[in-house]
Amino acid sequence: MFKLPISTILFFLLALSLQAYAKHNGEHLYLQNCVACHGYNGNGGMGVPLSLPDFLATASDEYMFKTIRNGRPGRVMPAFKQLSDDNIESIIGYIRSWSDSPPPVYSKKPINGDATHGKQLFLQHCASCHGDTGTGGPGTGVTMSRPRSLPILAPALNNKGFLASASDEMIKATLINGRKGTPMVSFLDNGLSEQDVDDIVTYVRTFETQTVADEGSIEDEPAVIIKESPYSVEETVANLKNAVSSMNFRLIRVQNLDTGLTEEGKEDKKQVIIYSCNFNILDQALKLDPRVGLFLPCRVTVSEHEGKVHVMYANPKRMNEIYNNSELDSMCTDMKTVYEDMIDEALL
Ligand code: HEC
Ligand code: HEC
Repeated sequence: MFKLPISTILFFLLALSLQAYAKHNGEHLYLQNCVACHGYNGNGGMGVPLSLPDFLATASDEYMFKTIRNGRPGRVMPAFKQLSDDNIESIIGYIRSWSDSPPPVYSKKPINGDATHGKQLFLQHCASCHGDTGTGGPGTGVTMSRPRSLPILAPALNNKGFLASASDEMIKATLINGRKGTPMVSFLDNGLSEQDVDDIVTYVRTFETQTVADEGSIEDEPAVIIKESPYSVEETVANLKNAVSSMNFRLIRVQNLDTGLTEEGKEDKKQVIIYSCNFNILDQALKLDPRVGLFLPCRVTVSEHEGKVHVMYANPKRMNEIYNNSELDSMCTDMKTVYEDMIDEALL
């Protein structure tokens, strides 16, 4: 009988169990870090699907690695700085287990087409979904937040994270292949020539030099804004209720901070929260990002401590930090102004 030395057998067993461990570990890390947005088995949700055969056939491991490490600033996809290189590789291994296609490898050679012609073609063939300047579709991938007609949100192509991750060759392969099961079609099948595709890729690359400068750091923004009131707690609450309605906000409820945490009737009357809401703002904000439910409706706390009455609220500009959604930024700035006006009126 054909005999294998015991060391070879042990080596194979070790290799097999290492492989099984890596897959298990990748799955575990995927469930921990990615599933909330990309769905079980990569079928998508707030994030684009990751299991589509055309995606896996055209996305290189390098592209995935850089996308996970650097994220997409301002486009919801976080940068996973805390994962080790090994962790990221295990996650990619797990994602690869959804498909039999071998990962493609691209050269880094730039494609030198005609950017001016590429721009014309881009406006004609791409802008309707990806935006005139490559800003991507509005909202997130969640149904309530994207147009019904689009089953999947078009990613931002002018995004620093995207441009740093995708090589010219990979963008070209995406345009030539398309991604079946999404609105992204093959442009060779749709009448463009390979030269046209090269021109478009060259134009998309110019977004790198056009990307807007980062806005001022929000780290300068305080997490909580506190103002002193010249009135008693009761008067301050009454004034805030008036300010809420004079600003066309609906008062939702007024409750003690410790309601439900202490015996009924024994609540601390010096610690009060006022919940209010403007349904237009709520609706707009939910369309941009359903996760704003975490800091809406508006809540203002009035509290007395050592004879001083304070009015405070969590700064919406800081809350937005965790969402990495640039469309929400201006909304959060507006919300901060709303809070300021409301409180200024109440403390007048
Ligand atoms: C908070 C939601 C969120 C989380 C968590 C998240 N992603 Fe994403 N991801 C997105 C969104 C949204 C996009 C598309 C960005 C755009 O629209 O421009 C994206 C894009 C991607 C892409 C590019 C896909 C393509 O079609 O080219 C990859 C790859 C990816 N994510 C992998 C991951 C992995 C792996 C994890 C976990 C380590 C993860 N993401 C966690 C939201 C998320
Ligand atoms: C009908 C809408 C639509 C049109 C038109 C369209 N795209 Fe897309 N595109 C999408 C969607 C949706 C995706 C995401 C597909 C996915 O999830 O895998 C996408 C993905 C991509 C990607 C991969 C980016 C990433 O982060 O995954 C590139 C590159 C791209 N499109 C470039 C273009 C270019 C260039 C054109 C014009 C020649 C174009 N697209 C036309 C909807 C469109």
